[in-house]
Amino acid sequence: MEVPKQKITISGLRKLIKLYSYIKPYKYEYALGILFLLGSSGASLVFPKLLGQLVDLGNQGKLAQEINRIALILVGVLVAQSVFSYFRIYVFVHVTEKTLADLRQSTFNHLIRLPMKFFQHRRVGELNSRISSDITLLQDALTSTLAEFLRQLIIIIGGISLLMYTSFKLTLFMLAIVPVIMILVVFFGKYIRKLSKQAQSQVADSNTIVEETLQGIQSVKSFTNEFFEMARYRGKTLEIADTGIKNGKLRGAFSSFTILGLFGAMVAVIWKGAALLAAGELATGELFSFVIYSMFIGGTIGGMADVFSRVQKFIGATEDLLEIFNEPVEPVEEITSLLPEQVLRGSIRFDHISFHYPTRPEMQVLTDISVTIRPDTLVALVGPSGAGKSTFVSLLLRLYDPVEGKILFDERDHLDISISALRSQMAIVPQDIFLFGGTIRENIDYGKTGATEAMIEDAARKANAWEFISLFPEGLNTLVGERGTQLSGGQRQRIAIARAVLKDPKILILDEATSSLDSESERLVQDALEKLMKGRTSIVIAHRLSTIRQADHIIVLDNGKIVEQGTHEELIQVADGLYRNLSGLQFAG
Ligand SMILES: Nc1ncnc2c1ncn2[C@@H]1O[C@H](COP(=O)(O)OP(=O)(O)OP(=O)(O)O)[C@@H](O)[C@H]1O
Ligand SMILES: [Mg+2]
Repeated sequence: MEVPKQKITISGLRKLIKLYSYIKPYKYEYALGILFLLGSSGASLVFPKLLGQLVDLGNQGKLAQEINRIALILVGVLVAQSVFSYFRIYVFVHVTEKTLADLRQSTFNHLIRLPMKFFQHRRVGELNSRISSDITLLQDALTSTLAEFLRQLIIIIGGISLLMYTSFKLTLFMLAIVPVIMILVVFFGKYIRKLSKQAQSQVADSNTIVEETLQGIQSVKSFTNEFFEMARYRGKTLEIADTGIKNGKLRGAFSSFTILGLFGAMVAVIWKGAALLAAGELATGELFSFVIYSMFIGGTIGGMADVFSRVQKFIGATEDLLEIFNEPVEPVEEITSLLPEQVLRGSIRFDHISFHYPTRPEMQVLTDISVTIRPDTLVALVGPSGAGKSTFVSLLLRLYDPVEGKILFDERDHLDISISALRSQMAIVPQDIFLFGGTIRENIDYGKTGATEAMIEDAARKANAWEFISLFPEGLNTLVGERGTQLSGGQRQRIAIARAVLKDPKILILDEATSSLDSESERLVQDALEKLMKGRTSIVIAHRLSTIRQADHIIVLDNGKIVEQGTHEELIQVADGLYRNLSGLQFAG
């Protein structure tokens, strides 16, 4: 994913300072790295100077001894530089990796504790990129960009000062040419990069086509849309080729321009230097080191633009990343054991609850819901699709907070009870079951991590899942496939039920999607549920009314309002009642 570049602003810099808090524990190591950096950059500055001296000595026909001495010093400088470089990289990488691990952890830790409403308007891909690409950018910045920037500063400032000292005239001449050419090269390069970015985004588009098509391959095939997709992909790939070719032309021009400009500048400097040499204002060795310095400085100026754009990206990434930290988290806590006052007895009361989703404030989903659920009863929620049944249980789990009204557990306001304590005593079998890509065992164990083999098997039996699990050659170790796609709908559901059983909750919520089950699986699921409901408050959202005949209390929701409630026998009596209508339809079918 492309990270937007950011203008370097005060607020951006302030965010960078915040990042510093992550580096702080390692600041001495970091300082050491900078020391090594100074050492290696310094050594690289001395190098051309000594080379020039060596040439001069040779030119003046000096003794071999003296020549050897300078050569030895040169070797010493080289060795020092390589040692410094090694330690610079080692120290920076060491510090950066530790910093990044901290940063990755705190980003993930923060992210996972954010409330549901945060995830409503974010894409998973976007959030994922925060943790992967943004942090990789930071890694790049902390290990190399910053060091590179310092090194460049040292080389440009140090190099120019040394040149001035050698020959003021020639330096002025060089400065009049080389930076100008470098800046032209940089701008040209930038333009080319812009074009290649366009190509990149076209490539990304074409990848999206591949990704979506393959993900939905079943739909593609069943709608015989293979040829449609082929045409779509062909169009995109041709676009990519066009942009690439245009880019290639420019790149060719760029490379000739660079050759002409850079080598031209070199010729000019040597030409001017030769004149000075002839006039006796410069020694051969000085000219020699001068040319090397000039190339050095020119290259560095060119590299600076790249570093500058990397710094911009780095700030952009940091801003994006730190933005997550500005979002307040839910007060979740690790629950090892419940305090006596946190233990739920299973009574629930909705007191004038109204609710709309944060993303759609104009659409009221629940309106003035007041209802009492007695402990250890079975309550059924029924109503047409979109009535607000799933939303009702989301509020119960405090995935969202009601806009108006209160939910009371054992007559205590739910806002006064620790959110984790509350959730730890509820279990939900959701409407769209999500299984993690691992084994059946891992998926059941998710209800109560660290459960024993016997507990898992027991839960699976109670959920009527053991039967099919034991038929798999791998048993509990069977892989369920991505999101559980290698299991049938009914099997997935029973695993989700086993997960809930393992948790042994005080309040069990079942948002059932029995419509996906055949009557045999439905009977198994239902049978499992009956075993499960003893000794706890159960809330079942039922689409098949046969499930709920035995409910102690039935709440009929329509369009976010409670329209009827009572037992099956009571509700069936209501003339023109919604329940009677719904059940009439179902039993007729
Ligand atoms: N995350 C959400 N963000 C915004 N609106 C939502 C969200 N989830 C549900 N809604 C809307 O809230 C209303 C109630 O949805 P809900 O899922 O509670 O219905 P339901 O009674 O469970 O229906 P079904 O029987 O089809 O499962 C619907 O109009 C739906 O479009
Ligand atoms: Mg629903």
